[in-house]
Amino acid sequence: MVELKTPPELEKMRTASGIVASTLALLREKIKPGVSTLELDRLAEAEIRRRGAQPAFLGYRGYPATLCVSINEEVVHGIPNAARLIVEGDVVSLDLGAVWEGFYGDAAITVAAGRIKPERTRLLEVTEAALYRALETVKSGIRIGDVSHAVEEFVASTGMGVVREFTGHGIGRHLHEEPSIPNFGKPGTGVVLKPGMTLAIEPMVCLGAAEVVVKDDGWTAVSADGSCAAHFEHTVAVTEDGCEILSSIQD
Ligand code: MF3
Ligand code: CO
Repeated sequence: MVELKTPPELEKMRTASGIVASTLALLREKIKPGVSTLELDRLAEAEIRRRGAQPAFLGYRGYPATLCVSINEEVVHGIPNAARLIVEGDVVSLDLGAVWEGFYGDAAITVAAGRIKPERTRLLEVTEAALYRALETVKSGIRIGDVSHAVEEFVASTGMGVVREFTGHGIGRHLHEEPSIPNFGKPGTGVVLKPGMTLAIEPMVCLGAAEVVVKDDGWTAVSADGSCAAHFEHTVAVTEDGCEILSSIQD
């Protein structure tokens, strides 16, 4: 069952997602050589709490932090660590969730640390563009498979690989709700979108092959071939003729 949110519920999701977006905007400015991923996590948690919300990932299925920081060949779910310092040329994915009055917001960005190789710049551009292709597809009456296919086709046209092991998801009273939103699929299949559905859409793209493996820490997913990866995510609400991005920066 895909739950439709009422206008007051959407307002709470707007607040939760806005707090995520503002916190990501703050973190983006801190992505510099020498900064540890744990410092980023501490900052994220303090900012979310300062704004009156709670971290969504902390304790979720045992996840030990507020933020996921995934560097270079790490695709998603990198665990913050005091010993892991950002270095010039890294691409750093920041994935963050917050809860406000019982409703969740979830978003991710990938940021360059200093000067990066041109192919990495292209990876960031392609992954963010893949997210926007998906968002442009979303409106009442289309199906999840249409969104999934838009991402798959766009990424394939660039020669990069879209990750299949992880998906986007419905979001609301829970971090993960139905439907699941793969980044590949067949047009005209799957759940029909309706106004009031709230979705977290999150393409993950590798410069090389798209296969991922999870490291011994049980969380960090890395590309199997060691190629660099990027991740962008927004929480959106489906409307009659499109979608409202709930996790765009509001202040
Ligand atoms: N954006 C990711 C997701 O929706 C973040 C989950 S990290 C976890 O799956 F720690 F909460 F699992
Ligand atoms: Co998500």
